[in-house]
Order: sequence, then C-alpha cells, then structure tokens
Amino acid sequence: MIVPGSSSQLLAAALAEETGRPLATATYDRFPDGERLAAVPEFDGGEATVVATTDSDEAWVELLQLQDAVREAGAERVTTAIPYMGYARQDQSFRDGQPVSARAMARAVSTGTDRVVLVNPHEPTVADFYDVPVETVDAAGVLATPLSDLRDPLFLAPDEGAIGIAETVRDAYGSGETDHFEKHRDRETGDVEVSPSDASVDGRDAVVVDDIVATGSTMSEAVDVLVDRGAERVVAACIHPMLAENAVTRLRAAGVDRIVGTDTIERGCSVVSVAPVLAEALVAEEE
Ligand code: R5P
Repeated sequence: MIVPGSSSQLLAAALAEETGRPLATATYDRFPDGERLAAVPEFDGGEATVVATTDSDEAWVELLQLQDAVREAGAERVTTAIPYMGYARQDQSFRDGQPVSARAMARAVSTGTDRVVLVNPHEPTVADFYDVPVETVDAAGVLATPLSDLRDPLFLAPDEGAIGIAETVRDAYGSGETDHFEKHRDRETGDVEVSPSDASVDGRDAVVVDDIVATGSTMSEAVDVLVDRGAERVVAACIHPMLAENAVTRLRAAGVDRIVGTDTIERGCSVVSVAPVLAEALVAEEE
C-alpha cells in the first residue's frame, strides 16, 4: 500500500494511480497536549511505501510514526519516499556547536525502513547519511511540462550549482539556451545578490530554474534583474516550492509572470507531479 503523510496526500494518490497500488487511508490526530498520532488502521501487512514530505517538524514526527505503524501492522518491507527532505541544507556543521541536522534526520528515518527514495535532495551527498540503501531521483524534467509557447527561451540557474537542473528543463522542453547567474548570499542577513549572466534577454522569455524556492530571496533577485534587462516574460520554476514567509508576494513584486512548481511540496503553484518519476524508481527497484 501507498501510505501518505498528511502533507503528501495528492502526491501519494497520484503515485497510487501510477503504480496501480492501493492507497491507504492514514489518520492524523493530536492529543490534548499537542502530541501527534498518525495511524494506518486499514494497513494489510504487505509492502508499504510511506510517502511523506518533511517540510515541517510535525511532518518528520508523522513520518516516523507512519513507518512504525506499518511495521507494527506486519509490513513485510517498508520503503520511505521523501519527496522533499527538510533539514537537507544543514548538511554540515557550519559553526562551532552546530549539528549536522540532515544526518540526524537520516539516521532516525533509517531505523524504520528498508530503503529510502529521495527526490532532488538539496545536496546529493545527504544520501550518504542514511544507514539503508537510498535512491535519489531527478524530477527536474517534469518542470518543462507546464511550459509552452515560450519565445526564444533562456533557461537560467540563479547560481552555478543549479545549472544542471536548468539544462535538464531545457532538454525536456526541447529548445532554448541555458546560462547562470553568480549569486552571493550574506550569511548574517540572508540577503541575496545575483550578478547577471552575459546572455541577452531583451524580448525573450526567461525561465529561472532552481531546486527550491524558500524565502524567495534568490528567485526574486533573479526575476528582478531579468525584468530590468527587458525580458518579455519571466517564469520562476522550481522542484520544491517551499514558498516560506512572503516569497510569493516578493516574486510578484519583482515582476514574475508565473510560478511553476512540482508536488514535492503541495502548494497552489504545484502544477505538475513527480509521481511518474517516483513510480519509475519504486517499480524498477522491485523488478
Ligand atoms: C541554494 O543553494 C538553493 O539552490 C536555493 O537557491 C535556495 O535555497 C533558495 O532559498 P531562498 O528562496 O531563501 O533564497
């Protein structure tokens, strides 16, 4: 059965459809003191695939409870699919006394599963923190699906690290150029500055592609620069639309034409699903 975390119900349903597996009805309750209780009353004891994005502390707790619930109900094998792995950006101890949060979370998840599937984790190396086999899938290509009729498109990464994602989207779209900005983030304030790429954008459509839009600082800076330089339309595309705080209004203020995201984090802009890519990874491993 496909067992959904409360934040991944649409994706889990799409995955059930893709794989032809039954979708379990999980329940998500709270005790009066605030503690959570996620359960899977109908789980039938076969193979379990827990699908849970961990975009909040509550979601992490729920994931651990769902893993344990299916084991308790006699699951023969547990796969844990984490469409968006929270805490992955703290993949190092950046300052004295800080934890490697991604490692701490990965160790906890590993105790309740036989394997893990991650979708575009912030750094691929976080896979090494798990104590069970991990498969990492690249869902960037699905971002091309909702893009159509772009005029002489330029696919831009906001920093060099995201150029591979921009190239994947361009390849899936079928035409266009790629380039990247240079990005500097002030570690104290979190403010982001991006230096424009050399490519001309005047009269063209630009698609800025990143793995995650969190506060929107990076993406809104990039959009702002492109609008200033005469781009016709600027689309913001990301795999993980976290869209924390006022990210959406910042992007609108910068002049974005459209925000396009996947359902690794279910938001209003999640116009395309990673379910086909995730399903392929789940099914391929079992064959
Ligand atoms: C950074 O390396 C990532 O790829 C994203 O650019 C970053 O995490 C986005 O964060 P924010 O939206 O807060 O600028």
